[in-house]
Order: sequence, then C-alpha cells, then structure tokens
Amino acid sequence: MAIAQAQPNIALVKYWGKRHGGMNLPAVGSLSVTLESLWTQTEIEFDPDLPEDLFLLNGLPDPVGLSRVSRCLDPIRERASCTHKARIRSRNNFPTSAGLASSASGFAALVTAAIAALNLDVSDEEKNQWARWASGSAPRSLYGGFVELRLHDTPAPGHTELVPLATPADWPLEVAVAITSLSTKSVGSTAGMSQTANTSPFYESWIRAQPLDLEEARTAVQARDFEKLARVSEHSCLKMHGLALAGKPGLIYWNGATVNCLAVIRDLRAQGIPVFFTVDAGPQVKAVSEPGAIQQVAGILRQIPGVLEVMTSRLGPGARVLSGAGKPHPSDP
Ligand code: PMV
Repeated sequence: MAIAQAQPNIALVKYWGKRHGGMNLPAVGSLSVTLESLWTQTEIEFDPDLPEDLFLLNGLPDPVGLSRVSRCLDPIRERASCTHKARIRSRNNFPTSAGLASSASGFAALVTAAIAALNLDVSDEEKNQWARWASGSAPRSLYGGFVELRLHDTPAPGHTELVPLATPADWPLEVAVAITSLSTKSVGSTAGMSQTANTSPFYESWIRAQPLDLEEARTAVQARDFEKLARVSEHSCLKMHGLALAGKPGLIYWNGATVNCLAVIRDLRAQGIPVFFTVDAGPQVKAVSEPGAIQQVAGILRQIPGVLEVMTSRLGPGARVLSGAGKPHPSDP
C-alpha cells in the first residue's frame, strides 16, 4: 500500500480541446501553477483477495469516479504485471468537481500512490502519460510551482513534455479561490471541450494563437514580470470562456458572483494592487497576487454577494508519496 498527496493546479494559459486520435492528447499546450494548501490525499492498497476495485471519495462510495479510477490503474497494473484489484480511499479538503481541478490533484495523487505501492521504477514520461490518460490537466499536478505542458511533433505527433519553469521559492505568488457555488458543474470539461471544438466558430483561431500566449507567459515567468503575466493570463481565461460561450449550445460556466469578482479584481489592479483573475470550467474565481497582497484581496472578495467562501494558498510542490514504499505513515511517531 501507499499514500500520496497532490495539489490542484490552476492554468494561467488554458488548455481547452483535444487532438483527434484518442490518448486524451490536448489540442494545445498550457501553463499552470500548482497550489499548496488545497490537496487530495489518496491511499491505495492492492489486495489479491479483492474481487473488484473499491473507491471511497471523502468516506463515501463513488460509483462514477470508480470507473475512471479503475481505467487509470489498468495500464499501471499491466506495467507491473499485477492482476490484483485495489482498495482506494481519497480525500479532498476542497469541493469536488466544481471547477477547482479536483481531477488534476486526484489523478496525480492516484498515479503517484499506485506507482509507489507497486514499487515501479518508471520514467517521468510514463508517469505523465498515465496521469494524462485520466485527466488532461493532471500531469501538471505531478510538478510544483510554474509548469508548462509542451506539445511536440517529435518523436510522435502530440508528444507531451512537462517543463517546470520556476519553483514556488523563485516567485512566491499567492492565490485566493472565491467559491461562488458548491454545485457539481452541469457540463464536464471533456464534454464541454468536444462541444466547443465541434461548434465554436473561434476554435481554429484559438489553436493557432496558443503558442504566442505560451511564449508570452513563459517569458513573463522567466522575467518575474507580474503585469505581463496578468495580461496574458486574463486574456487566455476570457478567450477560453468566449470560445465556449460561442459554441452551440453555448457553455456558461459563470454565475453573477463570478462576474462581479472579475470586475472587482480588475478594479483592484487599476488601483495598483498586484492581482489578476483566472476561471476554469466552473464558477469559482481564482485571484493570483504578488507576495503579501493576497489577504487584502481575499478580504475584499469575501464582501461580494454570492461569494460563499474564500480560500488562500501559496504555490506548492508536486505530487509526492507520504507513506508506503519504505516511507513511514505520516501519523507514525
Ligand atoms: O483536466 P481536464 O481535462 O478536466 O480539463 C481542464 C480544463 C481547464 O481547467 C478549463 C483548463 C486547464 O488547462 O486546466
């Protein structure tokens, strides 16, 4: 058995859309930051006497999640020549499936725990691929700080490479997450992406422009240029939602409080507070600030009607094993 922890990551340059040909290959590269204080912890135990995989999420059986979990584990079991089923217990300290990247932290933790429990010695490439097959954004949560997922056409079309760009210590930005709804999103990201790719008139230009956005964000991170990162991140976020809104039917992931948060964050930046926003496939707003500004930003977001809760986080490390594979349990003396 093994226990692993991973944190969600927030895309600053978003991915939206998949390549044809399966393998869950993203249509575009992306750039994200991994958080510290939101987490998924996953314990896995392979058991020869178990007839089927068992999956508990936050203490309750999750039949929908179970099939994705089993599909994620199958290639790892095959690689280890292991036929045993597994008991998987996973806990999130934040709302699941509400646009907070619980699938990224969840599958990064699951892959990391399974590799440790099976004592597998694998390349980063294999690990990244197993995470990506389960969720396109999950490989980014295997790494800490600022991470770029790059797409190459060699050695094969759609070859993905994960490149850590800077550590949390290199540029200790902070994040506030404003929760504006606790409902599970109505259209998941995979279905939303295919609807957008098939019907949005802006999809082709989105794909074409992505390398420029990535280049701009990468150089902003390298130069620690906050204003530049703010501009390209807000642009990528609004463009992704514009693209999805223009599909048939259009996808509306936001609510009124989401929009009010965006306006307030823009105002704060105009007043000189170093903060920008981003929003994924859900109604929650993430505000990213320079070190030292996040508590003030969080306090202001809490006053906005419809904001239920604001969590804050620094940037954090990638997925890691907490116990198992020779490591003691975290609660052991
Ligand atoms: O990880 P997926 O395949 O569920 O999709 C994530 C999509 C966004 O969060 C909206 C953007 C991104 O790059 O994370």
